[in-house]
Amino acid sequence: MKVLLTGRKGQIGSHLARLLPGFCDFWAVDQDDFDLSDTRDIFAALDGFKPNLIINAAAYTNVDSAEKNRDLAFAMNANAPKVMAEWAADNAATLVHYSTDYVYDGSGDEPWVETDLTEPINVYGESKLAGDIAVSESGASHLILRTSWIYAASGVNFLRSMLALGAQRDTLKVVDDQIGAPTSASLVASVTVDILNQTKFGGIETFKTKGGVFHCASSGETSWHGFAAAIFEEAAKRGCSLKIKNLIPISSSEYPVPAARPANSRLSLDKLSSDFQTETPHWRDTLCHVLDELFA
Ligand SMILES: NC(=O)c1ccc[n+]([C@@H]2O[C@H](COP(=O)([O-])OP(=O)(O)OC[C@H]3O[C@@H](n4cnc5c(N)ncnc54)[C@H](OP(=O)(O)O)[C@@H]3O)[C@@H](O)[C@H]2O)c1
Repeated sequence: MKVLLTGRKGQIGSHLARLLPGFCDFWAVDQDDFDLSDTRDIFAALDGFKPNLIINAAAYTNVDSAEKNRDLAFAMNANAPKVMAEWAADNAATLVHYSTDYVYDGSGDEPWVETDLTEPINVYGESKLAGDIAVSESGASHLILRTSWIYAASGVNFLRSMLALGAQRDTLKVVDDQIGAPTSASLVASVTVDILNQTKFGGIETFKTKGGVFHCASSGETSWHGFAAAIFEEAAKRGCSLKIKNLIPISSSEYPVPAARPANSRLSLDKLSSDFQTETPHWRDTLCHVLDELFA
């Protein structure tokens, strides 16, 4: 079994890179190895290594910059997975790919299910949806895990921004009208490996019958303000020195950013539970686990 992992240095990719090598002939790559915005580079790497399983954890993830860099966002998030999926279909390989709550428009207050209408409200979401559609229509054996609000002990993410800001300022304003489930990169990586183990590493026939789109996030829900409050409370318990005294909830309209954000990012986890018997932990338990790692 030969496995190619892209996005080796990313949040989810770096956790996968720690979990996978023992299992297989493993090649983990990042931008230094080849450029996923270049179709020829992708083909050259795939034809050279000939993986049985491709795990695509690379993406253009800067949501606000995507508004200005539409072409690059689409090259990375739509064309690259399309090329990988078409290669997988032609070479009897399997593709595992990651997607996002941003494919939904954020309306209502019910958890989204995988068959709901996808209507992204920003360029990043549009580009990710185009990738999902290309993978789904490629004919390749595939698994798409749609996740939300990813953070880790390293990398650029909300947890690390809050810890840095909370150490410098006594007052912070954080949006409280966007609701979702903060999800650690390590949780997504371990669910991925669990599914791969259950399916004999994405055995092509298994994913043809049992694959498709699945939500994969922590259970429970909160707002960014609720997440920030939990970060400060749990970090303080672990001896982190913080200046923050006032955490003020604000609306999205009081925090203008280039890309619109969905208000409702709740993802139903029923399909993950019924098809793979996987129950994910509550977001607050996962946060404690990541903070334990950070302050160990
Ligand atoms: N972050 C979130 O909140 C979130 C939420 C929902 C879904 N997701 C999805 O989850 C997946 C993983 O996200 P993540 O947060 O782990 O991503 P990340 O930390 O931003 O990592 C992305 C990786 O892609 C690589 N990359 C970027 N441009 C590249 C290029 N042109 N060629 C080759 N590699 C390139 C990056 O390399 P460099 O390090 O060299 O830039 C990095 O290793 C993505 O599909 C993302 O859309 C993320």
